[in-house]
Parts: sequence; C-alpha cells; structure tokens
Amino acid sequence: MPNIDQYIEANAARFEEELCEFLRIPSVSADPALRDDMQRAAEWVADQFRRLKLTPEIIPTAGHPMVYAETPVVAGAPTALVYGHYDVQPSDPLEKWTTPPFEPTRRDGNIVARGATDDKGQLLTHLKGLEAWMNVEGRLPINLKFIIEGEEEVGSHGLEKFIVEHSDKLACDCVVISDGSQFAPGVPAVTYGLRGIAYYELHVIGPNRDLHSGSFGGSVTNPANALAGILNGLIDKDGRVTIPGFYDDVVPLSDRERKEMAALPFDEKEFFAQIGVDGAIGEAGYTVLERRWTRPTFDVCGIWGGYQGEGAKTVLPSRAAAKFSFRLVPNQDPAEVSVGLKTRLAELCPPGVKTELIDLHGAPGVLVPLDSPYIEAAARAIEHAFGRRPVFTREGGSIPIVTTFHQQLGADALLIGWGQDDDNTHSPNEKFSLADFHRGIKASAKLWEELSK
Ligand code: BES
Ligand code: ZN
Repeated sequence: MPNIDQYIEANAARFEEELCEFLRIPSVSADPALRDDMQRAAEWVADQFRRLKLTPEIIPTAGHPMVYAETPVVAGAPTALVYGHYDVQPSDPLEKWTTPPFEPTRRDGNIVARGATDDKGQLLTHLKGLEAWMNVEGRLPINLKFIIEGEEEVGSHGLEKFIVEHSDKLACDCVVISDGSQFAPGVPAVTYGLRGIAYYELHVIGPNRDLHSGSFGGSVTNPANALAGILNGLIDKDGRVTIPGFYDDVVPLSDRERKEMAALPFDEKEFFAQIGVDGAIGEAGYTVLERRWTRPTFDVCGIWGGYQGEGAKTVLPSRAAAKFSFRLVPNQDPAEVSVGLKTRLAELCPPGVKTELIDLHGAPGVLVPLDSPYIEAAARAIEHAFGRRPVFTREGGSIPIVTTFHQQLGADALLIGWGQDDDNTHSPNEKFSLADFHRGIKASAKLWEELSK
C-alpha cells in the first residue's frame, strides 16, 4: 500500500494538529457542567466523517450523544465495527499536571493531555486510517461501521441500550477497538483478554450524631473503625477475596498460557521502580503479570468519614463510607459477586452499626479466541506498521461494552491498543507517543486491506 502509507506520512503534521484540536475539548463525561463540551466533541467527530463525504449520525442518549457512521457498501466483503470513546476522565488533581490537561503539549515525543491515549488519540488513528483510504483510493476494500460513544468512563449506558435495540444496524463480523496498551515500547500487542469489574459504594452508619471520642469512645461502635475492619475482612492474608463462592467460576490459567506469559520480556524491578514502590504484593502463587491480567482483585478506590480538616479533632464520626471494586475475570458474574458480597458484609459488620451497599456498575471479563482469521489479519497489519509481530497479551482494565457486542452481535473484539502502561491513564500528565499515533494510523489502514483478504 505504498500510496496510502505515503499519504499518511505526508499528512502527519496535520493529523497531529487535529489531535490537539480534539484534545482541547474538555469532554469529561462525569462532569454535568461540561455537557456542551460533550456535544462539541461529538460534533467534532461527526465532522471528521462529513469531510470524507460520509453522512454521520449524532445519536442522542439519556446521557451523552454517540456518533455513528458507515462507509459505502462493498458487496461480499466483511464488515468491521470500529468502537471508540470521545469522553475522558476528570482531570483532577489539577495541581499535579505539568501543563494544563486541556492544553495539549508536545514533550519527549509524546502529546500530553487528558484523553491523549484514553481514548481520543487511539480512536483518531482509525479515523485517519479511513481518511487515507477515502482520499487515496476513493473507497475502502471492506465495509466499516463506526460507533463512537461519550459515556465509556461512566458505564456506557446509552450505547448498551442502543446495541440491544439496534443490533441490525451494528451487525458486523468483528469489532475493532484501540483503547488499551502495547506490551512495552517497541513491543506491540494483540490483547485477547480483559478483566471485568463489580463496583460498589458502602456506607457504615452508627450513632445519630458525631460524638466526643473521649466521652463515648470504647463504648460505641465507631463507623470508621468498623469500615476499616470490614474492608480489611474482604481480603485474606494470601491476597484472596473472602466472598463466598468468589472463585468458583474463575477460568484457571492453562500451563501453556502461564508459559507464554512467563516468556514475555517483563522486568518486575523496572515495573515497580517506575511507579515508585519497592516490591510486589498480591495473591500468593501468581506472578505479577498473572495477577494484573488473569486474577480477580479487590481495591478501595476512595474512603472517607470523620474529621479531615487541619490539626486534630477528637471526634467519633457518626458515619463512614468507601468506594471499592473487584476486578473480575472470565467467567465470574458480577451479579453473583453482589449476592456473595451482601452475605460477607453481614458476617463482617460488627454490632452497633448498619451498612448500606450501593451497586454502582458491573461487567464480566472477556476472553477472545486466538485462532480467528481476524487476529491473524491484525497481526500482519501491526507488523507492517510497527516493524515487528505483536505479542499476545491480556490486560487488567475493563471495556464493559465488549461483552455486549459479543452477546448481541455475536462478534468478537479485535483489541489492538496503541498505548503504553506508563501513559498515566486516569492520572495527571496523561500522554500518548506521537510515533505510536502515526504507526497506529498505518496499522489501521493496513488492517482494512488485510481484513478484505
Ligand atoms: N481504556 C480503558 C480500559 C483499559 C485500561 C483497557 C487499561 C486496557 C488497559 C477504559 O477507558 C477504562 O478506563 N475503563 C474503565 C471501565 C470502568 C469505568 C467500568 C476501567 O477499566 O476502569
Ligand atoms: Zn478508554
């Protein structure tokens, strides 16, 4: 595809400018004050299709709009559905950013901004791969459908409903998603597994008002102490979750998979040094990669209650609360985790307080078969653009909608992330390598040719 690659090289600077334009829109789906910016981001995506003379639809949802577009029909050719999300995570804590989150800046070969890697930069590679074909050849060798949503970071509720109600419109042979990572710099990957999630908020409620901790301490259950005990009781000393039945449906790792993971060039020391911690913890009997990719976990994401101001205040708080999640693996069912969690909470809750559990969201984990022709097509496209065959990885993060695509459309996902583990996803100074941005565009364009074979 010399002409298409040349087009991509010749337009590289403009692609970067457009990426910056996209990144300047603060499309934080969780922030109700930024609704107009969400609409603006959807319009920006739709405009990318309009420039190629396609007719995108902006589809409203109860939350933020989605953008849908399709290319002219190529009879007899396969259909790929490209999924991505234009929404981003909140940018706090703002003071930790070297440059403002919505003022994209080039630094050390990266573009630094909220959404750079998750997922604006990655999703744009597919829009530019499409552009290259349309402007060089005037047509694509396969059928492409695009669904770009604005609610991935808050649960994909609108898209979920849309897929169920409009499975005909989205019918496809495979779903292409770039919303994850390569294995390491210079080591591209095809991802065949994602973890699922079950996310909760727990309130521990005690006396009817805050109390003097001297007058009352020791005679009344302290909700903050109780919360600490409950959370601590959800995991044992071997790092295993103590919910009854939690591991019953976990698909065990095969010897072959363990061997393949062990053969990946992963440097544990370097991994921990990079994040500034001095060693590994986790479930006994598993390596760090196995723990991150293939084993379920429990993590507190936020915790509050009692006095948080300056200095000391001797108070026994009337309530305390936490947000926490379990990352799940195939074939754990988030609904069953919720049932087991309630049983375990009843065991762990001490007398003198009561608990209120809010089930925030859940999604099962994903495993895609490695023997599909689509995987091989992706491997060839990646080799063309990155100069080396991809390794096969699983990832610890979740893309809940992948399961819905599978269940409703019968289509497996082709997970080809262009990011890196240290991209600061959901964290200050999020970045995306510009070299990978351009390689991702080339791989995307090549993929359409490979899928047509
Ligand atoms: N892009 C991530 C998912 C991801 C992260 C894939 C790391 C592979 C590696 C996505 O935008 C995300 O953050 N998803 C959430 C889902 C949650 C809100 C249900 C996640 O994993 O926390
Ligand atoms: Zn994402």
